[in-house]
Amino acid sequence: MTHHDGGPGQLPGASARSARSFSSAAAGPALRGRDVPGADPADVDLLRADLTGWTVDAVHDLLGDVAQAALAREQAVPAVRALAGRLDEPLAALTLAFVLGRPVPRARLAAALPRLGVAGAVRAGLVETAGEGPQDAVRAVVDLRPYAAVDAAGTADWWVVSDAGELATGRPLRPDHVLGVGGASVTLARCTIRTPVARVLDLGTGCGVQALHAGRHARSVVATDVSARALAFARLTLALNGADGVVLRQGDLLDPVRGDEFDLVVSNPPFVITPRTPFLPAYTYRDGGLAGDEVVRGLITGVGSVLAPGGVAQLLGNWEHRAGEPFEERVGAWLDASGLDGWVVQRELQDPAQYAELWMRDGGDPAPDRRAALYEAWLDDFAAREVESIGFGLVTLRRPVAGMPGLRRVEDLRGGLDEPVGEHVAACLTAHDWLRARTDGELLAERLRVAGDVTEERYHRPGEEDPTLILLRQGGGFGRVLRADTALAGFVGACDGDLTGAQIAGALAHLLGEPAGELAARLVLAVRGLVADGLLLTYT
Ligand SMILES: C[S@@+](CC[C@H](N)C(=O)[O-])C[C@H]1O[C@@H](n2cnc3c(N)ncnc32)[C@H](O)[C@@H]1O
Repeated sequence: MTHHDGGPGQLPGASARSARSFSSAAAGPALRGRDVPGADPADVDLLRADLTGWTVDAVHDLLGDVAQAALAREQAVPAVRALAGRLDEPLAALTLAFVLGRPVPRARLAAALPRLGVAGAVRAGLVETAGEGPQDAVRAVVDLRPYAAVDAAGTADWWVVSDAGELATGRPLRPDHVLGVGGASVTLARCTIRTPVARVLDLGTGCGVQALHAGRHARSVVATDVSARALAFARLTLALNGADGVVLRQGDLLDPVRGDEFDLVVSNPPFVITPRTPFLPAYTYRDGGLAGDEVVRGLITGVGSVLAPGGVAQLLGNWEHRAGEPFEERVGAWLDASGLDGWVVQRELQDPAQYAELWMRDGGDPAPDRRAALYEAWLDDFAAREVESIGFGLVTLRRPVAGMPGLRRVEDLRGGLDEPVGEHVAACLTAHDWLRARTDGELLAERLRVAGDVTEERYHRPGEEDPTLILLRQGGGFGRVLRADTALAGFVGACDGDLTGAQIAGALAHLLGEPAGELAARLVLAVRGLVADGLLLTYT
């Protein structure tokens, strides 16, 4: 380790006696920062060239598995230690400055940004400096980091600019904080249907991450946000990644796009259910300012007005489960009011206390003397509406091309998502239409085949020949697990595309000693479900 680099957990460069650091100079006039980043196209080009090679994989290689995993748990110390002594490597200096928010000696950052330079980074509102000397500290005032995704077009390596989080600043978030790519952003990106389309709307774009994704499969993208700060961050993210064609509009929810029609609307909206209390700032990134789950209800019931015929909206949301009101009915009524095909998949459920704790932590630790009052406010708010639990999940809506909506599904399918499911969601919508166009007799006349990701599990009591339990497990999609009886398992096992459903049912009836018509009638509902969920595939 050189004296320039500082030790683990120390400010790099702070040990050089002549260097100015932020510990004393933070409030001084030497610092030049501004509220939002922004760069002219020439500076963006220079920055992009400087960042080449700074990828998600490169950062992982620099940090190693342990520090990377710790960072994912919001712990920076192992990562700072991993980078200490390596600041002569440009990617290490970029990571320490822009991902971890630690000051870096000016000379080190200058070497990591050889084209834009530190002066250019100040001009773009990315960093502030404590002085002009080579050892003077430079500190990022934004979070800038690589972000990668894989979709039908292959791998994308991007960079995303957002506000620095608590891990970097050590302070609670400001109310107009612009969020970086988080768990919900990735969930929505993984769920989004990536079929090529003409027009996409990203509602509540924040740092611009969903718009970046959309740019890969849409001819045009409109990204909106109520926050001018968010749009400034999105503008820089998009420019940095060559996606300058995205149109940015400021305004509340659907207001900026009234009169427009889109083939796909994606939104990770400010869905967090928030008590109205002076103890808690109204965080723009998560709080739409309405009571309870009104933001999500309003989007579900209103988004149809900006969907083209056949257009799909995919939204994340929270919804309340209230006493005496099953959530399937409550959220189902929103789907009915939308006039759209609607499919809600609940992936997570929390009780009011868990929910309050999660969102109290998320904004940064509130002052200890306020914690109890804030917790009370959250619980009071839920109690006022008799909320027993809070669901989180994905809402998929589709404007029928013609006629009445036919899809209305609200289901509890809990679990995380490790892989993209957009293609699966699209296939389920197609399967729904296919099923809707067929009577039971027509369905059984089809030659179905079992999907490649389906496995069967049989559980036997020791010594017994017949299984007590048969499960069909879907490897992809939403990872459904369904219980099957011997007849259904036999039916699925025989679906290889050669025999029709009726032929398979007939053979099974013979084997099981049951009238063929009765067995077919018993199986057909389950078969519909398996086709709808992608466990059985059709050829047409
Ligand atoms: C959870 S963030 C999502 C950011 C980004 N799209 C993502 O997926 O990570 C929600 C965004 O909605 C914006 N927002 C909040 N209230 C809004 C409103 N009334 N109308 C439009 N956007 C709003 C916030 O500024 C924020 O950028």
